[in-house]
Amino acid sequence: MAFVSGEIVDRFRKQFQSAATPLVYRAPGRVNLIGEHTDYNLGYVFPIALEMACYIAIAPAAHGKLRVYSRDFDKEASIAVTDIASAKPTKQWSDYVFGVAQELVKAGFAIEPCDMFVASEVPTGSGLSSSAALEIASAVALLGGRAFPKVELAKLGQRAESQFVGMPCGIMDQYAAVFGHAGAALKIDCRSLGHEYVELPSNVRIIAVNSLVKHELGTSAYRERVAECQQAVAALKELDPKIESLRDVALDFFERVQDSVPMVPRRRARHIISDTQRVVDLATAARKNDLAEMGRLFVASHRSMQYDYQISCEEIDFLVDSAIKIPGVYGSRMTGGGFGGCTVNLVAPEAVDTFRQQLSALYNARYQKTPAFYDCLPAEGAGLA
Ligand code: GLA
Repeated sequence: MAFVSGEIVDRFRKQFQSAATPLVYRAPGRVNLIGEHTDYNLGYVFPIALEMACYIAIAPAAHGKLRVYSRDFDKEASIAVTDIASAKPTKQWSDYVFGVAQELVKAGFAIEPCDMFVASEVPTGSGLSSSAALEIASAVALLGGRAFPKVELAKLGQRAESQFVGMPCGIMDQYAAVFGHAGAALKIDCRSLGHEYVELPSNVRIIAVNSLVKHELGTSAYRERVAECQQAVAALKELDPKIESLRDVALDFFERVQDSVPMVPRRRARHIISDTQRVVDLATAARKNDLAEMGRLFVASHRSMQYDYQISCEEIDFLVDSAIKIPGVYGSRMTGGGFGGCTVNLVAPEAVDTFRQQLSALYNARYQKTPAFYDCLPAEGAGLA
């Protein structure tokens, strides 16, 4: 449910004891349909931007600071605008905002003193990219209408996260938050940084299911996977010096030569190369309205994450295995960085109610937790709310 602009303006005024009329910006979360961890390997990804978004109300202030309040953490943080360039991370939510501010300063954009009220609907730690939503909402709010190329905006958000926050992420989340489009999924080529919009079949609903398991392991395991993919590239480069990333490796070539790659990097590479191919195949299946094939690709992608990339967890596997037994479910897979968060499911519209009831009951009986369900409709990228 969109955070009503009037409501955020009132909250802004109360919080900062201000009579200013702030501008309200939004940037969406995303759910990735297929192509997981392929972005930093320069392959394809296939997310949709969500209606669930991060909202920021912003207005100039006279206190010399960038002052920001988070409704969700009920915390305020501030920094003198003259200190932004030399700011260091503090391992708190405000790093996302100050990291973006620092990148803007580096890109030559002065940050004027201001107050920012942040309210996000994107659940944290759920694999729906609450961090990129916060970064990109911060960037558009701080830019305040100043022109900035869209691809550069996505790259700036990614730099803030990898360099300031310290999570060596790919470009997918920030890109989806910038380029999201109502009514279509985004097939992003993470090497050229171009994209095409792909309309999804109208006779299917995309439902994300939150396991409520937070991906605590996230950053360290993510870093490990990045390194293992680089080891695979190094081994494959011995066979073909033209190989610079796993994107350059065709699946049939890999299948022929995989024994020359050490075991762990080999499994990681097998996931990346096959999931990049599955993005292409899913886009084709979506264009043909082939829901059975889309579902098959979802499950194949999940198994590849489960066994080869090893980024799933018990609760998520339980959600996937239970979902695909429910009539009317075409496919199910984990979405996002891994180790918890959400699954994404392709469900026939008439089966959605049963799907929710049955999956909820099964998960509850097993883990004594009620999963949250989100109906995912492709929405627009960042801008004024
Ligand atoms: C996180 C990262 C993305 C991407 C996904 C996995 O969301 O931020 O760049 O690598 O994990 O697909």
